[in-house]
Amino acid sequence: MKIFSFEGIEGVGKSTQINLLKDWFEKRNLKTIILREPGSTKASEKIRDILLSNDISLANETELLLMFSARAQLINEKIVNSKYDIILFDRYYDASIAYQGYGRGLSKDFIYNLIEFTKCPIPKITFLLDLDVEDGFKRKSNDKKDRIELSGLDFFNKVRNGYLNIASNDPDRVKVINANQSQSLIHNQIISSIELLL
Ligand code: TMP
Repeated sequence: MKIFSFEGIEGVGKSTQINLLKDWFEKRNLKTIILREPGSTKASEKIRDILLSNDISLANETELLLMFSARAQLINEKIVNSKYDIILFDRYYDASIAYQGYGRGLSKDFIYNLIEFTKCPIPKITFLLDLDVEDGFKRKSNDKKDRIELSGLDFFNKVRNGYLNIASNDPDRVKVINANQSQSLIHNQIISSIELLL
């Protein structure tokens, strides 16, 4: 089993790329599943509803611990003993470092401890789709914003810079891709990194 994760702020086009990559793996007869975080189990989807509801207020610490509650359940239910060849994560633990660590200002050391505590398997490659925050928001301007998306430009600039720091600290795993390119160019860059691995 190989894990790949996709990260980035809102509006960078993660879902499109994840679906293209799933088709690519399936054409090669590799059993592939997409898991979104927070979510993808019954309990984790309920936790997601709490995390994203606009009419619920959450302390930063609560937000962090709920993210890891959803993640712990997902790892136990869907990753341990998985029969899939390929698992594609639409966000994974780097999102907690970027959003709750860099964005909300919570202790990154504590978050790394939670990653260890919940036994998160490490992805082979993490694709960070990078885009200017305002451009990302423009792409999603017609969508109703959830609780986290309402956190403001300042917050999202911290998240974006946080992701870029994560990538520069771990360049072998985290590949930064300019999301301001055509879907097919981005897909080809993703495939090139993966082909080096297979
Ligand atoms: P999305 O799946 O629709 O992108 O929504 C998930 C939201 O949750 C998104 O704003 C990013 C945020 N998030 C965190 O803040 N921390 C995390 O660890 C994860 C997985 C997501």
